Amino acid sequence: MKFMMKFLVPILIAVVLFVTSCDYNNKEDMFPISETCDTMNVSYSETIVPIITTYCLGCHSNTSAPLIGDNNRLEDYSDLKDYIENGSFWGSLNGEPAYEQMPFNGSKLDDCTLLKVKSWIDKGYPEN
Ligand code: HEC
Repeated sequence: MKFMMKFLVPILIAVVLFVTSCDYNNKEDMFPISETCDTMNVSYSETIVPIITTYCLGCHSNTSAPLIGDNNRLEDYSDLKDYIENGSFWGSLNGEPAYEQMPFNGSKLDDCTLLKVKSWIDKGYPEN
């Protein structure tokens, strides 16, 4: 019994700690987002327009907005700018409590996509 307490128990604990510490089993855990997500080369035309087209224009294009997008238009830069400046564009993408999570009835966009959008906004959302 003494032997058990003195040697086996610590060894068991060490084994358990060792095994549970090795839970890096996917790429995202091993390489944190900041290293694999390119947030440097973001532009309106190459980054933002494709994201909005894919996830938002179904409801927020100039034609769909009055029908199913609660009249919020995101298709033209000049309209999008207003939503950036009043905080609702980022707030709704990021699921902040004051806003409906967008895409509406969909799941939040992945972290890298959100980081790209954030980076572009932080750079002053140029129409580039
Ligand atoms: C399935 C349709 C649908 C999709 C797709 C969708 N939206 Fe919306 N959006 C809505 C509706 C409906 C509202 C009004 C929600 C409310 O106020 O209850 C809204 C509101 C908004 C608003 C205004 C929020 C406010 O508080 O003024 C913004 C900004 C917005 N959406 C951005 C987006 C963005 C960005 C995407 C793409 C990532 C997106 N939406 C995708 C339907 C959609």
